[in-house]
Amino acid sequence: MPDRIARIKADYSELFSSSPEVIVKGPGRVDLMGSHTDYNDGFVLPVAVNVDVLAGGGLRDDGKIAVYSGNFEKLVEFDLNAIEFDNVNTWSNYVRGVVHFLQEDGVALRGANMALYGNVPIGSGLSSSAAIEMACGYLLQELNGFEMSGPRLALIGQQAENKFVGVNTGIMDQFISRLGKKDAALFLDCRTLEYEYVPLDTSQVKIVVCDTMKRRGLVGSEYDQRRSQCEEGARLFAQWYPEVKALRDVSIEMYEEHKSRLPKVVAKRVAHVVGENHRVLRSREVLGSGDFEEFGRLMNASHDSARDLYEVSCPELEAMVEVTRAASGSLAGRMAGAGFGGCTVSLVKDEYVEQFLQVVAVEYKKKTTLVPSLYVCTAEDGASVIERL
Ligand code: GLA
Repeated sequence: MPDRIARIKADYSELFSSSPEVIVKGPGRVDLMGSHTDYNDGFVLPVAVNVDVLAGGGLRDDGKIAVYSGNFEKLVEFDLNAIEFDNVNTWSNYVRGVVHFLQEDGVALRGANMALYGNVPIGSGLSSSAAIEMACGYLLQELNGFEMSGPRLALIGQQAENKFVGVNTGIMDQFISRLGKKDAALFLDCRTLEYEYVPLDTSQVKIVVCDTMKRRGLVGSEYDQRRSQCEEGARLFAQWYPEVKALRDVSIEMYEEHKSRLPKVVAKRVAHVVGENHRVLRSREVLGSGDFEEFGRLMNASHDSARDLYEVSCPELEAMVEVTRAASGSLAGRMAGAGFGGCTVSLVKDEYVEQFLQVVAVEYKKKTTLVPSLYVCTAEDGASVIERL
């Protein structure tokens, strides 16, 4: 991080001839449990991790926002009163969307300069988009000094993603990027936005994220199709149980009783979501009691269900899961995020981590010819101030 902080200061002073007033971070995330449950009003259990977007900023008086991305080496500028979609610098749409929806929410913003520099791999399933949204949202909050709860800022980020960028994701990514906590996982009820922290002691067991290097885009992908299939399932259940508003309201018993009356594909999607919600609730308990072995079994079951019933895996994810599960000291291997590529997440006993990294790199390459990126992650705080200048 120190190098990136220095880089932000240097970029900022070169472009804006001053120092940033404050530098904040918005972290990436990995979901330990809860695959495709968030947009079904269900439960998730993610952690914020030690890869993030850093954002340094200062106010300006002309009602303009200028944002520099150190990763893309591009500066964009837009007016607070006329925020348009940018077809060229598409990364800036996350910032534009957050600014737009903060103002829609009634926040009076002043102009600002921002310099960003991140190390969240893009398109890998660690939610670089939520990281940039929460870094910029939090930076604007710090600079303008307005009050806003963490869940509210997360919702603003989700609106930016859904309605400005045009990707119809759930609330998990922004919520954990804003509200994550060091050495803890966050259990979230995606309907009520009630949450609690579950201690995650990473001294005995490490979170290892394995990037398959298979990239996937959420825009135009099958993600929307899965959402529609879930909505159809919820509509069908509402005929039999009027209280059903989303698949969150369908119990295992209700599913068993009616599954033969559902279209085949819808039945599979419902089975996954209903089972996964149940597993997330159970995982919160077992993690709370420090039972990593059982937690690992639930992670594996989550992956298998996402593969077989939700059908969001791909050959690269399967190769990585096979290799990571077989490695000594590994307690689990499951896909992270939406699937279709990107990363897997494993829990690995501390004393085996070095060996795990070596074996996985070799064995995965043998199976796929791809060279994976492997990250030993810690659970970190969500969006927060790194330095005030
Ligand atoms: C993506 C979305 C999340 C969630 C996951 C699947 O990461 O951004 O909202 O739906 O997929 O669990």
